[in-house]
Amino acid sequence: MKQRPLGRTGQVVSEIGFGCMGMSEFYGPSDQSENWTTLGAALDAGVNFLDTADTYGHGANEELVGRFARTVGRHRVLIATKFGIVREPGKIERRIDSSPAYVRAACEASLKRLGVDAIDLYYAHRINPDVPIEDTVGAMADLVRAGKVRALGLSEVSPATLKRAHAVHPITAVQSELSLTERAPEDDMLPLCWELSVTFVAYSPLGRALLTGRNLSAEALDETDYRRSLPRFVGEAAAANARLAGNLKAIAAEKGATPSQIALAWLLSSFPHVVPIPGTRRPERARENARASDVRLTRDDLERLDGLFPIGATMGARYTEAGFAGVNA
Ligand SMILES: NC(=O)c1ccc[n+]([C@@H]2O[C@H](COP(=O)([O-])OP(=O)(O)OC[C@H]3O[C@@H](n4cnc5c(N)ncnc54)[C@H](OP(=O)(O)O)[C@@H]3O)[C@@H](O)[C@H]2O)c1
Repeated sequence: MKQRPLGRTGQVVSEIGFGCMGMSEFYGPSDQSENWTTLGAALDAGVNFLDTADTYGHGANEELVGRFARTVGRHRVLIATKFGIVREPGKIERRIDSSPAYVRAACEASLKRLGVDAIDLYYAHRINPDVPIEDTVGAMADLVRAGKVRALGLSEVSPATLKRAHAVHPITAVQSELSLTERAPEDDMLPLCWELSVTFVAYSPLGRALLTGRNLSAEALDETDYRRSLPRFVGEAAAANARLAGNLKAIAAEKGATPSQIALAWLLSSFPHVVPIPGTRRPERARENARASDVRLTRDDLERLDGLFPIGATMGARYTEAGFAGVNA
């Protein structure tokens, strides 16, 4: 597994990270023992950068990640978690809190659930535009000075907000959606992150499974699956996007790889400062995704992929209207 720098921290992380969200909610039920085996498979494959958030499973996901880290050895993994999306248990509806008092309380609660002394990378999950970013990042910087947090990140912020935040305290990572089916950050955020030596952590790098070649029709998704509510996965858009993603199959066959591996390798080969964090609940898929680090794409391959998945080609919005709250804030 190759490594990439984590911002300017002097630390490196596996160039394929791991998103733990689906182990606790959003993509249908999961099995706790298989989750554990899957995390072990990822670690054995060289993946050491685990992504969670306080809101995933209402704390259950942090508890899982913390227990795993403490069991295998805290030093073997980097834990990234997030604060700011506040939901009632069992509800998707949320409010966003990025106030300094909330930052402090949320960090204490996350440390307790994780059962660790410090969080390696602490992100504001969403920003409430009514709270100046300087106040939010000021409170986050206090956590660094107190030794509770090692580095700071922001999720789904605008370039202007990143610049303001970076002026208060170095920002180590920006986490936003980036994949062959979601290329908007290429316009301004990716160049800005490069300029500021900020690592861009690509979430939903497999397009929430669109790019894996799997059948994602409404019948194939569990009744509780959150994707059933996302415009990209419904009706005409779902069919059009499945056709678009089908373009990966031929390239994957030619390269002796899987569609998921090509989607991840495209990110790694296109952007030297991007670290994708694919999520899965299955050990064999964790191994498959980790092996994307070995897939070599040529300039011709990249041009072909860029042509097959032009910016804006995916049909339907990536979130519902409510889901866009706090995005690009
Ligand atoms: N900052 C934010 O606002 C934000 C938002 C969303 C996600 N995230 C983070 O990003 C992480 C990854 O994003 P994501 O989970 O939304 O999307 P993703 O990684 O693009 O896709 C996950 C989906 O793909 C399936 N999958 C994964 N590898 C596969 C493979 N090799 N073959 C077939 N299917 C495969 C998974 O199913 P199985 O589990 O059944 O394998 C799951 O349904 C999350 O876990 C979370 O940590 C952050």
